[in-house]
Amino acid sequence: QLAPVSPDTASKVALPDAQTVTEVRHYTDRLFSFRCTRPASLRFRSGEFVMIGLMGDNGKPLLRAYSIASPSWDDELEFYSIKVQDGPLTSKLQHIAVGDQIILRPKPVGTLVHDALLPGKRLYFFSTGTGFAPFASLLRDPQTFEDYDEVIVTHTCRDVAELKYGAELIESIRSDEMLAELIGAENLGKLRYYPTTTREQSPKMGRITTLIESGELFSDLGVPPLSPETDRAMVCGSLAFNIDLKALLEKAGLREGANSEPAEFVVEKAFVGDGV
Ligand code: FAD
Ligand code: A2P
Repeated sequence: QLAPVSPDTASKVALPDAQTVTEVRHYTDRLFSFRCTRPASLRFRSGEFVMIGLMGDNGKPLLRAYSIASPSWDDELEFYSIKVQDGPLTSKLQHIAVGDQIILRPKPVGTLVHDALLPGKRLYFFSTGTGFAPFASLLRDPQTFEDYDEVIVTHTCRDVAELKYGAELIESIRSDEMLAELIGAENLGKLRYYPTTTREQSPKMGRITTLIESGELFSDLGVPPLSPETDRAMVCGSLAFNIDLKALLEKAGLREGANSEPAEFVVEKAFVGDGV
């Protein structure tokens, strides 16, 4: 276990790739977010992920992939995390406090980046659960609003409480003066937020895939159905979600892109496995 240190002593600790936790917020018994110091050398593109973790009981780092939820201009890093009660990493990570250290390998990678999409008019971010994390980064990146006329972010969770991190982020973008200035106050009208729940009553219920198939998503937002001419999409959720959404996007004529070959949509897993 890494020894807890106060933020001002962090720079004196000689552990490789250690960063100091600066803020922790708990949302539900399954979800929390935290912020930590950022290595001076770390450059990343909004939407990418890195390996983070803690020192394991065997003295070796226990690392997992995590989307960086903060934008690339931020001095600190933010992560949005699941708590898996018997998960090797998150059974411990959920107990971190301000001043503790985490390990962060500064090698960002990922497909949910602007470079992997061809220019378009409307950008969709489709997410479930912690799949919102990369979009929390991209939604605070001015390029997202400079490149598109409209940015539609959908987030589907089982319960209302699981939407809170995303709802607060959207609210902070709309009300935070510095963010409004960075993104451009005139750009804020481009941001459309479409939260849905599937297992608890809320203003909008249903899987986003069902709402796409029925056309309800488009009529609710007053936008035309998906088209490869105008629409671009980034998808991040469970494997089953990604597969179903990809099929709908391909049915609408959009093609999957990559860093090496930009196209109309990109997909990344929010986690490996069946979910908890
Ligand atoms: P693990 O042994 O890794 O997982 C145990 C089981 O828990 C999994 O089989 C799965 O069924 C379930 N599970 C794991 N992660 C999640 C999750 N996020 N949501 C729902 N169920 C899950 N996790 C995050 O919390 N935030 C992120 O931003 C994030 N980004 C990722 C990006 C990529 C590219 C990938 C591949 C994974 C990402 N993950 C993220 C998942 C993360 O790597 C770990 O799986 C997670 O932290 C749990 O670690 P663990 O060791 O406790 O349990
Ligand atoms: P549902 O409650 O109908 O399963 P999870 O917590 O299991 O990762 O799911 C997060 C959200 O994603 C839930 O609201 C869940 O709906 C939804 N979801 C899970 N799988 C799919 C899928 N294949 N297509 C669309 N939505 C999905």
